[in-house]
Amino acid sequence: MDIDLVGRALRTLPDDDDHPYRSGPWRPQHEEWKVDELEVEGTLPDDLDGLYLRNTENPVHMPIARYHPFDGDGMVHAVGFEGGRAWYRNRFIRTAGFTAEQSAGRSLWAGISESPTSAERPDGWGARGRMKDASSTDIVVHAGQAVTSFWQCGDLYRLDPLTLDTVGATTWDGWFPPEGISAHTKVDEATGEMLFFSYGLEAPYLHYGVVDADNRLVHHTPVPLPGPRLPHDMAFTTDHVILNAFPMYWDERLLAKGRFQLAMHDEPSRFAVIPRRGGVDDIRWFEADPTYVLHFTNAYTDGDEVVLEGFYQDEPMPRPDAVADDMWMFRYLALDWMKTRLHRWRFNLVTGQTTEEHLRDDHTEFGIVNGRYAGKRHRYVYAATGKPGWFLFDGLVRHDVEKGVDEHLRLPDGVYCSEVGVAPKEGATEEDDAYLVTLTTDVANDRSECLVLDAADIAAGPIARLKLPQRISSGTHATWAPGSALPGWG
Ligand SMILES: [Fe+2]
Repeated sequence: MDIDLVGRALRTLPDDDDHPYRSGPWRPQHEEWKVDELEVEGTLPDDLDGLYLRNTENPVHMPIARYHPFDGDGMVHAVGFEGGRAWYRNRFIRTAGFTAEQSAGRSLWAGISESPTSAERPDGWGARGRMKDASSTDIVVHAGQAVTSFWQCGDLYRLDPLTLDTVGATTWDGWFPPEGISAHTKVDEATGEMLFFSYGLEAPYLHYGVVDADNRLVHHTPVPLPGPRLPHDMAFTTDHVILNAFPMYWDERLLAKGRFQLAMHDEPSRFAVIPRRGGVDDIRWFEADPTYVLHFTNAYTDGDEVVLEGFYQDEPMPRPDAVADDMWMFRYLALDWMKTRLHRWRFNLVTGQTTEEHLRDDHTEFGIVNGRYAGKRHRYVYAATGKPGWFLFDGLVRHDVEKGVDEHLRLPDGVYCSEVGVAPKEGATEEDDAYLVTLTTDVANDRSECLVLDAADIAAGPIARLKLPQRISSGTHATWAPGSALPGWG
């Protein structure tokens, strides 16, 4: 295995760092590697053709005061598969914030657990302001490029998906929403469109937009709200998008004093169902039980109803007695503390009524469907299970939402995986006729691997394991892009 070290970021973190989210499985890297052919243990299928991309919060400097993993600089890991072989690269995303802090040799902006007034720089990003846009949350492939995003609204950075070189921040004819764009954009494989939303502190507080397959902004509309809200994700069907306004948002009285503190308000969850190219007058609002949802898995139309699935939180604001004192700052990270579980909402477009039901009792999150079924009725969700008390995934689960049964893959102690990519097999006709791809962080053996699983039999374990050149940090979101979606592939 020829391994090339192609870059190294300036790192000022101490060698004996013991921060819970900068050590162990969250120990960050500062090297960038290139491996043209990874060693394969098992059999890498010939019909696995495309690219798995994963984003990672990967800090290089000490924070101004308090570090939270959402503050870490974005690093992308890529594993490309073609003809029974695989290659690997990892690169930092050269955001404006990362570049400025590399020059300064220290943190210049305040993290989410720090007061905005503690930032050295007066400018910044995020709905709150004076944060660094680390672009370390999500990654999608749109119009032939990888696109990374920040969890609390920021730029959309475009990367060459093969070299991971940062091309730059997105604009459309020189324009970009001044409040930034939120963590989760959605790419519809059927149309090539990218759907997005953005939110901020100024009325109308929420916007929705559509970018076409050629990266042209073709639709943008306000979605007026009564005040600032904190949506993280959205969903779409072939005909509609679904946006949300949950009752967990910044306390308005404290916000008026410049303080950003989350509160659960005594009001329902609200969902906006909007035709994909609809405007303000087309918005239909539906009410549902109060909760907060980080991630939706999919949505589709069923007769008069728009059906939405995602991970309901029983405890959007975890109870103090459930969280260890020294982990209080990280209480919104553990699936068991928020009690996340798969849930289904049905919005009836004729009656205006909502019905909803829990689909599962166990705590899973970060669920992905086969991209060919996005916006259409699906049967399978491939999700992660969480290590209690931690933002770490200790296994995978295949939820069969049609039959109500699950299949599990539990990883060995000290091994954690990432959100999966779902790669349809060549000529696939069934939804689970696909492979799952994930990256592991194995603390016990100080190594990382890329695992390939058969989506129809995840309990059997990986059919192929590929050793990465260095143990990587646990991370955030991932995506799969077929080779046919990538210019210059093959
Ligand atoms: Fe997310």
